[in-house]
Amino acid sequence: MQIIKHTGRLKLVLSRYRKQGATIGFIPTMGALHPGHLSLIKQSVITDDITVSSIYVNPTQFDDKSDLKNYPRNFKSDYALLKSEECTIVFSPDNKEMYPRPDNRRFNFGRMGDVMEGKMRPGHFNGVAQIVTKLFDAVQPHRAYFGKKDFQQLAIIQKLVNDYDIEIVACPIIREKDGLAMSSRNSLLSDQERNDAPAIYRTLLLVKEKFRNRNVKEAEKFVEARINKYTSLKLEYFQIVNSITLDPVDEIASTIPLTACIAVYAGSVRLIDNIDIFS
Ligand code: PAJ
Repeated sequence: MQIIKHTGRLKLVLSRYRKQGATIGFIPTMGALHPGHLSLIKQSVITDDITVSSIYVNPTQFDDKSDLKNYPRNFKSDYALLKSEECTIVFSPDNKEMYPRPDNRRFNFGRMGDVMEGKMRPGHFNGVAQIVTKLFDAVQPHRAYFGKKDFQQLAIIQKLVNDYDIEIVACPIIREKDGLAMSSRNSLLSDQERNDAPAIYRTLLLVKEKFRNRNVKEAEKFVEARINKYTSLKLEYFQIVNSITLDPVDEIASTIPLTACIAVYAGSVRLIDNIDIFS
């Protein structure tokens, strides 16, 4: 596995593979890798001739400075994990490499960017789009792999990619045995918070089971009471949206695909999760 830190070198190495007709799979990450990330790598290793992963904690997508500062960074063990998965190239640039000058681009995601994460974390998706377009330009992959764990990010990338000839592969959410969605931020949870956090997914499963053909408001009240009864958990939002347009709905009717999305603070750690209501 090659570790590359500069875009120029990356482009040169990749152009050699491209000339040989190799297909390139790409998995952008912010590191602190766990089995959720590795499931994306495995998928690419099976599908593509070469697999490129990036590790870069992108400052422009953090609306909260302390979240950026506390974000876990484990470069050495990340490299070892990627190597054991047979990743071909890891790209791990520094801030100067990715932002030699301020990036003033402003992306418009339409209504999709105004709900849920877009509403709660102003500028977050603009920062994601800045870095993902820079990475797509550098790697020019045939396929890029993203997790459904970040459901709204996936929808936004799918919209963004209309301008590129890249296939976006949506990969399932990988969970701990107790149902908690794997996340780099889980390592920041205290014992109490870690004990309580599986309630997030349990609550989503109950919504799916009990609230078909009912009003979203009823589901919201249920979720708020269930989550907030844990002393370490605080609900930030719960929303049911059209899985394609991300427009919020009022009724849980099976005429369109719906996704229930949730954001919860476990102490100061913000966790997100989601579930398909009808699949
Ligand atoms: P990061 O949070 O490191 O996630 C990288 C990729 O791994 C994303 O596509 C995410 O959805 C996926 N992923 C994370 N946890 C997962 C899980 N439990 N199951 C399945 N997939 C999971 O998302 C980002 O980084 C950044 O915003 C990035 C796209 C790299 C831009 O900076």
